[in-house]
Amino acid sequence: MKYHFKDLGLSNTKEMFEKANKEGYSVPAFNFNNLEQVQGIIEACVETGSPVILQVSKGARNYIGKEMVPFLAQAAVAYARAMGSDIPVALHLDHGPDFATCKDCIEYGFSSVMIDGSHHAYEENIKESKEVAEFAHSHGVTVEAELGVLAGVEDDVVADAHIYTQPEEVEDFVKRTGVDSLAIAIGTSHGAHKFKPGDNPKIRLDILEEIEKRIPGFPIVLHGSSSVPKKFVDLMKQYGGEIADAIGIPDEQLRLASKSAVAKINVDTDGRLAFTAGIREALAKNPKEFDPRKYLEPGKNYMRDFYMEKIKTVFGSEGAYKKGSK
Ligand code: G3H
Ligand code: 13P
Ligand code: ZN
Repeated sequence: MKYHFKDLGLSNTKEMFEKANKEGYSVPAFNFNNLEQVQGIIEACVETGSPVILQVSKGARNYIGKEMVPFLAQAAVAYARAMGSDIPVALHLDHGPDFATCKDCIEYGFSSVMIDGSHHAYEENIKESKEVAEFAHSHGVTVEAELGVLAGVEDDVVADAHIYTQPEEVEDFVKRTGVDSLAIAIGTSHGAHKFKPGDNPKIRLDILEEIEKRIPGFPIVLHGSSSVPKKFVDLMKQYGGEIADAIGIPDEQLRLASKSAVAKINVDTDGRLAFTAGIREALAKNPKEFDPRKYLEPGKNYMRDFYMEKIKTVFGSEGAYKKGSK
């Protein structure tokens, strides 16, 4: 064990999810790849008093460097405390592809991991998820697994169509694996192109309801939940970006899901769009600028402001903990 999450000031997701389900909100899980995204996420969550899950994919961890990730997360906690806030911060592996990656993350300070066996056959998914849960729990780390397949791109896995989670499988799956939360497929998908123009952008809240009945109170996770705000798509285009037919999940549907047993909602694409729109705008308006602080900060601020809005209107997690300010 190189670093234990508790020594970095991080929290696992157990109490976060219990409180979220009791109080009818969901915990935001925001992906990051760099320092400015961490700053934006923490500032948004501190200013609203929301708990937060900082998550990195395997690709993002390779990009940042696995030695850097635990210290960025430790710095995030210190930053929140310095602003006077007591929000819990988790460091989570998003879409862990196998046992070895999950184990390595646990040994490098992660407080939570996802084992994504959703592309395996049912029994193989159970076997792998159970193996990860046993190892993780021996270190106090919480585990998310997935049943059903989201359409779109997930790291290296590309699926053309949704394979909705089958409610009749969930009880057996959570019992036999011992995992702490379950990601389900109900029509959300990764990336900026979730629906086609003319589609009715609806997720299957009826399947969610059916799943809740089978495992009452068990924390459910929604992936692929960016709303793809038109204002950032338009800004991207205005300042030279190319992004056609980008349509996300309507906020009202996510708000309904948040009030249910959904305890964690994943958002990455919205942050990427806000960050990139801010950078494009700053560079286009100041062509002589080459100080990275001057064009990265506007991107960070767009991301922070958007996440604050989302916490208030979608996650419902505002004020769950003590607010702070810069
Ligand atoms: O679900 C995927 C996340 O948005 C992470 O994407 O693998 O490109 O870092 P990434
Ligand atoms: P989006 O692409 O909708 O932001 O989803 C992110 C996600 O699910 C990360 O695991
Ligand atoms: Zn995902």
